[in-house]
Amino acid sequence: MRQPLVAGNWKLNGSREMVDTLLSELTTALGDGVTAEVAVCPPFVYLQDASRALGGTDIVLGAQDVCAEDEGAFTGEVSAPMLRDVGCRYIIVGHSERRSLYHESDEWVARKFAAVLRSGLTPILCVGESLEERNAGVTEAVVARQLEAVVEQVGAEVMGDCVVAYEPVWAIGTGLTATPEQAQSVHAYLRSRLRAVGAAADQTRLLYGGSVKPDNAAQLFAMPDIDGGLIGGASLQAETFLAICRAA
Ligand code: G3P
Repeated sequence: MRQPLVAGNWKLNGSREMVDTLLSELTTALGDGVTAEVAVCPPFVYLQDASRALGGTDIVLGAQDVCAEDEGAFTGEVSAPMLRDVGCRYIIVGHSERRSLYHESDEWVARKFAAVLRSGLTPILCVGESLEERNAGVTEAVVARQLEAVVEQVGAEVMGDCVVAYEPVWAIGTGLTATPEQAQSVHAYLRSRLRAVGAAADQTRLLYGGSVKPDNAAQLFAMPDIDGGLIGGASLQAETFLAICRAA
């Protein structure tokens, strides 16, 4: 049985005050009716503060990106060993915003995925199609290409312990959530691709991301191949994020 995971991706939002306030509200209220694993992924500069605020609680820490290299002349980068050092357990790689805005290729994302594994942390690989790709009927080809670039780099045997987040680009930040059936269809396909390459597909946690809100979370998480969510905007307020965590 896969334990659900709900991770909050804060994106380019936050402050030291917000870290204190939001994490205090979350850690105070978390016990009520939450059985999912809960993670928060603040911007790099707030990870140390967040780590201290989460110490001794059940909420785990994640990062939103990572360097593909572990050390050296890579100005401005942050490595997986550094993120482990400040207490991260999860690292998001290949978010669609990094693929589109910063031109991260499937191969570059795969190298970052490998860097996360080298440090003993758990990658959350983001895959998803654009509206044009969905309308062109190539959703499955897109997510399969993104997934298999990673499997080619790291091997199928590690995928059971990793997390994959299906985030249709057209649902991110738009309020246009995929229907539970749309999401389940792609999740089932991802799991079938993992099975086809010999991964422990039934072990891999598949998260849905893209306009998850308190009023749609339960229906999405009720789907057999949806094992939780990767939450953007709704993770920035304790009340909405907790409501989503309770739905998982
Ligand atoms: O990584 C999660 C994010 O892309 C989803 O954003 O605001 O649609 O929940 P949002």
